[in-house]
Order: sequence, then C-alpha cells, then structure tokens
Amino acid sequence: MAINDPVIAAQTPAADFTIEQRWSQYTDDEHAVWQKLYEQQVKILADRAVPEFYTGLEALNLNDGGIPDFDKINKPLFDLTGWKVISVPHLIPDDIFFDHLANRRFPAGRFIRSRDQLDYLQEPDIFHDVFGHVPLLTQPVFANYMEAYGKGGLRALNYDCLKNLARLYWYTVEFGLMNTKDGMKIYGAGIVSSRTESLFSLDDPSPNRIHFDLERIMQTDYRIDDFQQVYFAINSFEELLDATYKDFGPIYEFMSQSDKMYAVDQILPKDKVYHTGTQSYASAGGRFAKAS
Ligand code: PHE
Ligand code: FE
Repeated sequence: MAINDPVIAAQTPAADFTIEQRWSQYTDDEHAVWQKLYEQQVKILADRAVPEFYTGLEALNLNDGGIPDFDKINKPLFDLTGWKVISVPHLIPDDIFFDHLANRRFPAGRFIRSRDQLDYLQEPDIFHDVFGHVPLLTQPVFANYMEAYGKGGLRALNYDCLKNLARLYWYTVEFGLMNTKDGMKIYGAGIVSSRTESLFSLDDPSPNRIHFDLERIMQTDYRIDDFQQVYFAINSFEELLDATYKDFGPIYEFMSQSDKMYAVDQILPKDKVYHTGTQSYASAGGRFAKAS
C-alpha cells in the first residue's frame, strides 16, 4: 500500500487500532486537495445525492477550508445521533471494525490521496471516509442501520458468513442508490466520494439498476477494482432498516448450505428492474480499456 503519511508512521496504534488525527500537522497542500475534491463533488452531487446527504454535510460544516478536524465535527455529530469519527492508520481487522460500528464509532483513515490519484484510488482515504460516509451518520435511521450492521458483523463472524454480510455493506453503504420521488439518487459513500462514479452510476446505460433485495444481494458478487456492473436501489432508509431488522440466522444457515452465487451482470426473473444495462463499459474492458 502506497500510503505515505509521516503522522501515521510516527504512531503506534492502540489496541483498538486507533491513532491520533493530529489535525494541526496536515500540510497546506493536503488541505488544498480536500478543498478541491470537496468543491468538485458538491457541484456534481447537487441534483444527484439524496437530500439527507446535504442535510448532513451542512450539519457537520465539512467545508471549513480544508480537511475536517474530527474534534470539531464530532460535536454536532454526537449531538445528532451519538456517533463519532475516530482515526485509524489503514484498513483494520473485521472484528475491530464491527466493534467500532456497534458502538457508534466510525473509523476513518487519516491520510488524504495524492494529486495524481484524485479520480481513483482503491484504498479508502479521509475524503472517502469522511465526505462519503459521515454525512449520513447525522441521519437517525441510517445511523441506526450502521450500528445494527456492526452488531450483525460480529454475529456473521460466528456463523462464518462474513462474505454474505459484506456484500450487503457493499451494495448499500458503499454503492447504494435510492429511488426517490425526484428520481434515482445516490447515497453510497463509494459513489458520492467519486467524481466519475457519481456520473456513471446514474447516467451510464452500462450497469443494471435493480430494486434492493436482501437475500439476492447477499449472494451477488461485486467488483472492487472498477465501476459496479449492478446498483441496487432502496425506496428509503426505513426500507433498508426494516429489511435488515430480522434475525439473519436462518438466512446464514441456508446460505452456508448453498453456494449459489449471482454474477455481477446477471438479471433474475424475480428482480424488479429499473434499468437493464448494456454492460458495454465492462465489455469494453472498463477502466483498463485502451484509450482509442
Ligand atoms: N439483523 C442482522 C442479524 O441478525 C443484523 C444486521 C442489521 C445486519 C442491519 C446488517 C444490517 O445479524
Ligand atoms: Fe467506505
């Protein structure tokens, strides 16, 4: 991993993998990268993200002239939903991650991407983690979902069904769409923090767009290295929380007996399809296609 952050390198993480953010040690250039990404995304997302996302952005004042100071944004965040953001050096073990979520702590990377990675990087940086994830944590129903997910993660580990649960996270928290009265909108953090995918996910004819279905999603593969080939849309965060409120035990029992998996571009007879994708982007080689 090519993370070059001296403030991370100077620290030994605590047992729960947290480090200090040491906000005063960000450089002017790091703040400028945040500012650039922030301004760019706010413009692109104006009519694309769910309204709850903007409400959250404003509540947290994430446009305070650079990288947010966690001590500052944690005040309004904690008052609204009891969540807080904590700083971690890089990806952390699953059980530690779930334990933080279960206790309403959101682990965010400290480092920010470099200028040659503005459009694409695989590991989550502070822009993805904070701009992408934290605004919706100010919204009570979504905040409850994230806590429930953390608790569910610890359970899934016991059932040995983490893969199934991880797909739910992927297709909701990271790449979820919402079918609103004003049309299809974005709420997934992986999309809102990406200039290119904020356009692709809603406008491109290539990917499938299908209504959310819990068990189907838990059996659907996903891509970590390129735009998604399928997006799932919920009607509301209430729908998401209601669908996941039940005990997943029986689902896990069933899934550990069947290894049925759906491909990223598959459409099933029972799917409620909003858009049947052409898959032309993926067929042409996606991000790795040779420039013509
Ligand atoms: N209901 C899930 C379980 O029984 C927990 C969960 C809730 C998982 C919300 C994801 C999201 O394990
Ligand atoms: Fe993320």
